[in-house]
Amino acid sequence: MAFPVDRPRRLRKNETMRRLVRETTLSASDFILPLFVCEGEGINKPIGSMPDVSQMSVDVLVEECKEVEALGIPAVILFGIPAFKDAMGSEAYNEDGIVQKGIRAIKKECKKLLVMTDVCMCEYTEHGHCGILKGEDVDNDETVKHLALTALTHVKAGADIVAPSDMMDGRVDAIREILDDHGFDDIPIMSYSVKYCSAFYGPFREAAESTPQFGDRKTYQMDPANRREGLKEAEQDIVEGADIIMVKPALPYLDLISDLKQNFDRPVAAYHVSGEYSMIMAADKMGWLDGHKAMMESLVCIKRAGADIIFTYYAKQAAKALKEV
Ligand code: PBG
Ligand code: ZN
Repeated sequence: MAFPVDRPRRLRKNETMRRLVRETTLSASDFILPLFVCEGEGINKPIGSMPDVSQMSVDVLVEECKEVEALGIPAVILFGIPAFKDAMGSEAYNEDGIVQKGIRAIKKECKKLLVMTDVCMCEYTEHGHCGILKGEDVDNDETVKHLALTALTHVKAGADIVAPSDMMDGRVDAIREILDDHGFDDIPIMSYSVKYCSAFYGPFREAAESTPQFGDRKTYQMDPANRREGLKEAEQDIVEGADIIMVKPALPYLDLISDLKQNFDRPVAAYHVSGEYSMIMAADKMGWLDGHKAMMESLVCIKRAGADIIFTYYAKQAAKALKEV
């Protein structure tokens, strides 16, 4: 029907009316908070390019997780800053590595919180690439073996979900196989299926100390210009056994979030990455926009596009704000 009979503004009259017809709502249950764990004690070291985000030693991490759990946020994802790095990234699959220690400590104190782990090698290799090198490039199949080992040590330490972020071919299959072989057939895999080679990861690489020492990640992470390839990546991961599929970054790739939601019968996650977070925080600091409003708008739009789960560094602040309304 056309104007003047149809007046869409009728349903925007006041907040109660808007609430009644709202199509998408956020809740604390939607969020996963990324955390960076480092060696030492009593350490809470701020990340310069990520306001309100820091590297935490295990003791501080556990206190943080208690707060996260109390806010009703279902899960955290851990990234490790290891004691040392080498060519093989051996601290990634050390049973007493930093992430493995962090998992054990959190699981002891937080009975309801899900601990998810990022499975990759870039924080652990001295060259900062996401796998083991052959010449100047990452050796896919050799890397996949070590990723599977890494995932197994995480699960043995008590991880509830493992999340490979490396973008090697066949890694979901290898992780599913090693977990099943060790009796962990009940542990889900959340695959970073549609992960682009993005400049928006910049601040994260300061937080995780994982900047590649040469070259870039273009031979393994996806080309931002490609859409149909995202469907192929997701499909392949599902065939290999992925229980949850992810798109990363989030806002520049809402079309992919929508594609995955429409095409596959799996929960879809989206990662609102470090650069997306820091841009808003920086603009807020400059007084150029209202950071809180911009963040809440970003999160609801990511959900509207089709995300069932959102990784966000703003999880605690968002959960607190949602409690107040
Ligand atoms: C590790 C990894 C990265 C992110 C998540 N896991 C960095 C990268 O791939 O370079 C990015 C997260 C963020 O920017 O917030 N492979
Ligand atoms: Zn990596």
